[in-house]
Amino acid sequence: MNYTAAVITMSDKGARGERVDTSGPAVQEILKENGWEVVYTNIIPDDFETIKSELIKCADELDVCLVMTTGGTGFSKRDVTPEATHAVADREVRGIPEAMRAESMRITPMGMLSRAEAGLRGGTLIVNLPGSEKAARECLTAVIKPIRHGIDVLR
Ligand code: MTE
Repeated sequence: MNYTAAVITMSDKGARGERVDTSGPAVQEILKENGWEVVYTNIIPDDFETIKSELIKCADELDVCLVMTTGGTGFSKRDVTPEATHAVADREVRGIPEAMRAESMRITPMGMLSRAEAGLRGGTLIVNLPGSEKAARECLTAVIKPIRHGIDVLR
C-alpha cells in the first residue's frame, strides 16, 4: 500500500504571499523521512468554508490516507482549523491530540494553548498541528509512528 499524505498550511499571510511558509515544508520532510508519499500541498487562508472544502477534496477526491494541517489552532479569532476539521469528520480521534499536547507540555506550557483536533472522514485521517515550525515538528514527531498502524487498520 502507498501511504499517501496531503499537507495543508492555514495562514492568511501565507496565502497572500506575505509570509514564507516553513512549517508546511518541515511537515513534508518529516512525513517523507517516515515513509509517507506527499502527493498534495497547499497554503490556504484561515477561512472556515475554504478549510472545509479543502479537507473534503483531500479525503473524497484525492483519497489520501492522511491529511496533516498546520496552523489555525490557537486563540486568534481567525483560528478555526479545529472547528472545520470537526465539521467534516465522521469520527473523532481524541488520542492523537491528547498525545501531542502531552508531549508539547513536556517542552513548553504553551502547548496547552493549541486546540488541535483529529478525525476520520471515510478512509482518511485528518490531524491538526500548530502553526509554528518548531511546534509542528514537535507535535508531528510525537505521533507519526502510531499513525501508520492506524492507517493499516483503517484501509
Ligand atoms: N506545541 C509545541 N510542541 N511547541 C510549541 O512551541 N506553541 C504553542 C502551541 N503548541 C507550541 C505548541 C503556542 S504558543 C500556540 S499559540 C498554539 O500551539 C497554537 O498555535 P497556532 O495558532 O499556530 O496553531
